[in-house]
Amino acid sequence: MKYHIVTYGCQMNLHESEKIAGVLRAAGYDAPTSAEEADIIVFNTCCIRENAENHAFGNIGALKKLKRQKKGLLIAVGGCMVQEEGKAAYLKQKFPFIDIFFGTHDLPELKHLIERKRRERKSVVSVRAAREEVEDGISPVRTSYPNAWVNIIYGCNNFCSYCIVPYVRGREMSRRKEEILSEVRALVKEGYKEITLLGQNVDSYRGDDGTTFPELLDAVASIEGNFRVRFMTSHPKDFSPELVAVMKKHKKICKHLHLPVQAGSNRILQLMNRRYTREKYLEDLALLRREIPDCEVTTDLIVAFPTETEEEFQETLSLVEAADFASAFTFIYSPRTGTKAAQMEGRIGEDVAKDRITRLVALVNELTRRKSAKYVGKTIEILCEDYDAKKKMYLGRDEYGRMGYFKCERDPVGEFIRLKITSANGISLYGEEV
Ligand code: SAH
Ligand code: SF4
Ligand code: F3S
Repeated sequence: MKYHIVTYGCQMNLHESEKIAGVLRAAGYDAPTSAEEADIIVFNTCCIRENAENHAFGNIGALKKLKRQKKGLLIAVGGCMVQEEGKAAYLKQKFPFIDIFFGTHDLPELKHLIERKRRERKSVVSVRAAREEVEDGISPVRTSYPNAWVNIIYGCNNFCSYCIVPYVRGREMSRRKEEILSEVRALVKEGYKEITLLGQNVDSYRGDDGTTFPELLDAVASIEGNFRVRFMTSHPKDFSPELVAVMKKHKKICKHLHLPVQAGSNRILQLMNRRYTREKYLEDLALLRREIPDCEVTTDLIVAFPTETEEEFQETLSLVEAADFASAFTFIYSPRTGTKAAQMEGRIGEDVAKDRITRLVALVNELTRRKSAKYVGKTIEILCEDYDAKKKMYLGRDEYGRMGYFKCERDPVGEFIRLKITSANGISLYGEEV
């Protein structure tokens, strides 16, 4: 029997899908395949913005026909959207052909849910209110070699006013330091070349012995072997000189910090419940760059938060210039039921929001283009991670997070490659192996 997994959302979900694959193997499904060939199709959903949900709705709806044609096909829907209050019931009514619903805390249950569904006619639903054990005991089927994701903390306690994550992922729960270190050691032994420590908010990590995130990062980067370390996501309110010191101390830690700022206006930041100011954010970046001058910073930005004025939006634009980001993910604010911001007055109209995001994207692209152009003629070191069939080129990122493409006769995935950059296009660099 074969499986097909469709993943939406963040890296946390991508890694969770590797765990879903692990559970499916234990339940008798032995290999991945296309949706048409699969005996079980699993959707791992996201609800961070409305369009993430609509996307999933469309793709789940499209399976109705396949489900009718293929006897015995199971369809399971899990992840953040299912964890939203009332959503499982809504989905059940909208898509009666879905066999299994499982929330974000129910992954260890999935095998039993599948077995139950094979016996019962009606759909089975499991949406627990909270994570029971921090260790899920699931061996993931990793699909991202040479990178391996390693969870260090689950959940989020920050309650940024726009964000649904604390509601669907629950309260923070840190894994034990020794569990993390032994997982990393094993991965390095298996030949993984890049370890990405994952959490909605890695800075909130607190080990059983009081270990802080910089201490954990120090311990991970002290493990012997030829690999590099990334981590995400950091919260500006927790930025610390200790973190910078550890990043500076270890060559293995990539000189890249993803530090979502969200907005450039202090009034909006406060309404977002972000707990830092524009000035503090820029001071922190200045400290980071004094210590590690070539460190690249990327960010997330939201436009058209309720009541955001044109002047306040322009503060986001000026912050983007001042912060010298290497790149940024940009979003239009999307109201999420149950969050504080969804109840705020002063929603911004669609036309204004679209105009703002267009201007922001243009600025971000221009800054990225300018940065990329500077690389032409230089040599960078990338870790080759994949083959792009469309471009007919291999690709990989340097430690700063920049993507480099190159042609190669052998399969270099998993090798560190020195690339002489010959041209740049937007965020992508093109080069030749030297
Ligand atoms: N824990 C991480 C990631 C959260 S989700 C963090 O705190 O950075 C990733 C990004 O989605 C956020 O940084 C934010 O920019 C965006 N986002 C979250 N909720 C949103 C909403 N309701 N509307 C628009 N963008 C949102
Ligand atoms: Fe959402 Fe804020 Fe938590 Fe990030 S830190 S997941 S934006 S509530
Ligand atoms: Fe989406 Fe859940 Fe990640 S809402 S962004 S998949 S934590």
